[in-house]
Amino acid sequence: MDFSRAVELLTAYQSAKVLDAIASDDAMWRGDGEWYFAIGEGALRAIVRGLVACRLPAVTTLLDLPCGHGRVARHLRAAFPQARLTFCDINPSAVDFCVARLGGEGLYGNSDLTRLVFPHRFDVIWVGSLFTHLDRERTRDWLTHLAGFVEDDGILVATFHGRGTIDMHRRYPMIGEDRWRHILRQFEETGYGYADYPDRQDDHYGISLSSPASMMDIIYGIKGVRVLSYHERGWDDHQDVVVLGRTDPLGPRIPWM
Ligand SMILES: C[S@@+](CC[C@H](N)C(=O)[O-])C[C@H]1O[C@@H](n2cnc3c(N)ncnc32)[C@H](O)[C@@H]1O
Repeated sequence: MDFSRAVELLTAYQSAKVLDAIASDDAMWRGDGEWYFAIGEGALRAIVRGLVACRLPAVTTLLDLPCGHGRVARHLRAAFPQARLTFCDINPSAVDFCVARLGGEGLYGNSDLTRLVFPHRFDVIWVGSLFTHLDRERTRDWLTHLAGFVEDDGILVATFHGRGTIDMHRRYPMIGEDRWRHILRQFEETGYGYADYPDRQDDHYGISLSSPASMMDIIYGIKGVRVLSYHERGWDDHQDVVVLGRTDPLGPRIPWM
């Protein structure tokens, strides 16, 4: 998508209505509307930055996984009013809320994402703060699985905890100190640290911390994708943002680049 189209898209978004209803069980809601809506808009901007690096002229299909209760999806609907949106989360209430309030298709998640078969491929897959909760093996397997559902020349935009999270954790701890020290040690030794939340050991869900090099190592193992960008603290000045293009890494040049 060229810059002028991206500017048009963002200009139209500025005057569009963004859903302001908050679900009573939205786990991302912390009582601060300014923060909540800025995070959602920040995700949209990260996606648009990805779009200007790919060949897609327009977005017709978009997957938000995990959608939560639409913190980001409400901005996607405002920016892509005609697009076919698909909302997926392991929490059915979150999916139902997005479908009912934003219009689109819903898909309940699976604790093993590689078992989930999507009904079609997508121009854009947005994965906001899911890999931030997974160990290296599941990040590799789930990212590989999702990359298979990106349309030719489409993009997958995913977020990770990188160096920005080390500072963030000092101010807003996300996990107990012992577990955090374990994550930091693993991160320093291997580039990828992870620990389960104490109450989520059964399904291995916790906090991860990954270096750009460890992510590149994973991504280089995925066939048919090109790294379009790695933006440290590219979402909310906190999480790192990776944009992958479903574009042959050795194929022809993108004409305007
Ligand atoms: C940190 S929240 C992020 C939600 C949303 N992306 C946002 O930014 O507001 C993580 C979400 O991942 C969902 N989740 C956890 N495991 C999942 C899985 N296996 N498949 C789909 N969603 C999952 C949770 O229910 C939760 O809504």
